[in-house]
Amino acid sequence: METKSMELSGFGPMTISEADFRRMVNFIQSSYGIDLSQKKQLITSRLSPALKKLGYKSFGDFVNHLLEKKENDEITLVLNKLTTNYTFFMREKEHLDYFCGHIIPEIVRRHERDKTLAIWSAGCSSGEEPYNITMFLYDYLGAKAKQWDTRILATDISAQALTKARQGVYNLPDTIPADWKRKYFVPNRDGTHTVAPDVKNNVIFQTFNLMDPIKFRRKFDVIFCRNVMIYFDQPTKDALVRRFYDATVPGGYLLISASENLSQNAPYRRLATATFQK
Ligand SMILES: C[S@@+](CC[C@H](N)C(=O)[O-])C[C@H]1O[C@@H](n2cnc3c(N)ncnc32)[C@H](O)[C@@H]1O
Repeated sequence: METKSMELSGFGPMTISEADFRRMVNFIQSSYGIDLSQKKQLITSRLSPALKKLGYKSFGDFVNHLLEKKENDEITLVLNKLTTNYTFFMREKEHLDYFCGHIIPEIVRRHERDKTLAIWSAGCSSGEEPYNITMFLYDYLGAKAKQWDTRILATDISAQALTKARQGVYNLPDTIPADWKRKYFVPNRDGTHTVAPDVKNNVIFQTFNLMDPIKFRRKFDVIFCRNVMIYFDQPTKDALVRRFYDATVPGGYLLISASENLSQNAPYRRLATATFQK
């Protein structure tokens, strides 16, 4: 039976009625693709502290306000709290090795004349992925990198993740090679490292909702969309993969994560684990 009273108890997460939960889930899924229908506990535990601080008396009040007003502050809060931004440097290393060994040489050959690559990290979270891609490109191009435009578009819907990405300050894992630490990072006094200016300047961070039409100026040679579509249902994934396909040059690539797959009827050709070509 539906709970009628959702008053604040003071401690612990606020309760949410089944109806308000469903309204919230529908709003997030229809606007951002993220399927939270099995994540009631995640919604209440991640949002409650902020809602209490803002003075909301019940979850219902917040959901009413959110859906009626659709104000930026509330939407930003919801996206900051309810997206999963887990990411790290060198994630799925074999996949990155394939990118370095096969894809970079191929796109560099293809662009030998215009010396311009178009790479998109879609769902970049706090920036490790696009910075990591930059480091692989710089390593491959060596001294010639300065003659190339290797700028990477990196997008997300979490303002918090994008702020961290733009700052570019990280606790580096041991998986970062020692020479990369020297070349591509500047050490800070507190033991963290900031990505070096030429790496930072290679990444253009933007807010972009993957549910929106893709209208970037150029078509992409490579789209990375790793560990993002796992939060979407199948029709949402299929429609996004179709939009990625249309936004990719012939022969361009889509890289997803090893824990994901494309539908049988996806338009791409599979090249290797989680790696597809148009
Ligand atoms: C788990 S992180 C993946 C980060 C990185 N690609 C990786 O593989 O490590 C998933 C990211 O997708 C973003 N995301 C989820 N839904 C999105 C949407 N509709 N539009 C844009 N980004 C979205 C989240 O905000 C989150 O930062």
